Amino acid sequence: MNYTVVLPAAGSGKRMKANKNKLLLELFNKPIFLYTLEVFQQDPNCESIWLAVKKDERELIETCVNQYGITKVHGYAEGGMERQDSVRACLEAIPPCGVVLVHDAARPFIDPSVISELVGTAQASGAAIAAVPVKDTIKKARDGIITETVNREQLWMIQTPQAFRYELILAAAQAAAKDGFLGTDEAMLVERLGHPVEIVESTYENVKMTTPEDLIYGKAILENRKQ
Ligand code: C5P
Repeated sequence: MNYTVVLPAAGSGKRMKANKNKLLLELFNKPIFLYTLEVFQQDPNCESIWLAVKKDERELIETCVNQYGITKVHGYAEGGMERQDSVRACLEAIPPCGVVLVHDAARPFIDPSVISELVGTAQASGAAIAAVPVKDTIKKARDGIITETVNREQLWMIQTPQAFRYELILAAAQAAAKDGFLGTDEAMLVERLGHPVEIVESTYENVKMTTPEDLIYGKAILENRKQ
């Protein structure tokens, strides 16, 4: 089942404590976002890749894309203030298609078999998101005092990719913009339209490169894959 992927790549390096877009940081001499792009370049079911980038980073990113032979990039959209704005800009730029996958460019270690399950599920039911079961005990607290211990069995840590039928995610993204609703992932935008969203179990390796220690973990994953 073919799909189009939208990769928001217009963030910053604030939580990474980097003075530039963290996606441009390198793991073994290759920028982080290129590892992500290579996964989709190598997936025969991926028809086209669209990137949301900052205006002043587009030239640099386009140069890297060409240098590394990423031929499936069909277009770029200008990133916005929030991640949700960047994703919407891409969704409005892509030609209509069957299934769209939204994936953080900052998650380079996504398993291709998870992608294929997400696409199949979204094709069948409209919306599917990658997630892993919560490992730790989760508690709610107010003013530093525990108010509740939450039942872990129903809790999932949500990742990307998130896969949707094209019409559904476009409508959800545009409705959120019109209503001034800001979600923390695309699924929230679909959930508020009352549409069910299915979970596809992903891997703990699919970590988002967010804070400095994630880079250490990222390098360890790459080393382990070489063996
Ligand atoms: O900041 P965070 O890691 O949560 O961002 C997730 C993804 O969204 C990253 O790939 C980042 O580049 C992208 N992003 C974006 N536009 C923004 C903020 C983040 O494309 N305004």
